[in-house]
Amino acid sequence: MEGGTVGVIGLGQMGSQIALLCALRGLYTRVFDSVEGVPEHFQRWAASYLDDRVQKGKLDPAAAEQARTRLFIEKRIEDCVRPADYVVEAVVENLQAKQQVFQEADEASHRALLFTNSSTIPSSQLVKGLRSPGRVCNVHFFNPALVMELVEIVKGPHTTGETVTAALEFARRLGKTPVLLNREIRGFAVNRVLDSIWRESVYLVGDGVISPEDLDTAVVKGLGHPMGPFRLMDLVGIDLVYSTQEAAYRETGEARLAPSPLLATKVNKGETGKKSGKGWYSY
Ligand code: CAA
Repeated sequence: MEGGTVGVIGLGQMGSQIALLCALRGLYTRVFDSVEGVPEHFQRWAASYLDDRVQKGKLDPAAAEQARTRLFIEKRIEDCVRPADYVVEAVVENLQAKQQVFQEADEASHRALLFTNSSTIPSSQLVKGLRSPGRVCNVHFFNPALVMELVEIVKGPHTTGETVTAALEFARRLGKTPVLLNREIRGFAVNRVLDSIWRESVYLVGDGVISPEDLDTAVVKGLGHPMGPFRLMDLVGIDLVYSTQEAAYRETGEARLAPSPLLATKVNKGETGKKSGKGWYSY
């Protein structure tokens, strides 16, 4: 399907993959990141990803070229948002940063649907002061977003039925299978499940019961998961895992939800996973 414009704000791991996915699926894709050097890094990564797919015979060269021509790097957030039918916010997982993006997006366009890819912040925390909060909801992709089929759509108390329908349609258009959460809940659905696995796994290793490698082998071979929890934490980012667990603990005060000290040690040492070259494994 051709046509339609999306603005993607934030070109980290998730934003980059979401943007390229949109371009591959026929959307004109305008991207913005305020951090110096990041848009250029995105451009190089996208070019090399498309080349690799063509070389592997997984992507038609003409389709790769079309995706390239549908990607536009913008220098100002308003140029990313103004022409857009949909905006996907994927900036750093920080409330103030996201609120700022939503304010600016709201000022730049009164018509675009505004989606946040946040895995921890419900969209109701982002709509204060916006002109039309009805067009806002969580559209949560999974890492790696080019590959993982699921998208969680989370309806906030402010989100209109039309926005939910459009978000479901947007996800399907990207080739994803959406599921709908009818109300906001801490951790949404999938991360509630995943987080218990991660928490138990880190405690088992921290208590000296098993090594990360053997725990991963156990989960892959014993439960049929495509990847063990430690490999997956490295992929997602140990800092993100830590901040999610820390937020859950702070919010609920439940001791059982406190992140393991071992997780804090990894973050303090800067061993945040694949992106830093070292996490539970070395890269
Ligand atoms: N980016 C883009 N494509 C990737 C990729 C990446 N980082 N990693 C793998 N792929 C692609 C490969 O190119 C390959 O594609 P083709 O078959 O079309 O060539 C395909 O995925 C399979 O890759 P591999 O054969 O190299 O490896 P694999 O079979 O082990 O699959 C995986 C890799 C898809 C990541 C798989 O291991 C997997 O599904 N792991 C679990 C991932 C998961 O659980 N994600 C959710 C994380 S939680 C989250 O994201 C939510 C949050 O809020 C934190």
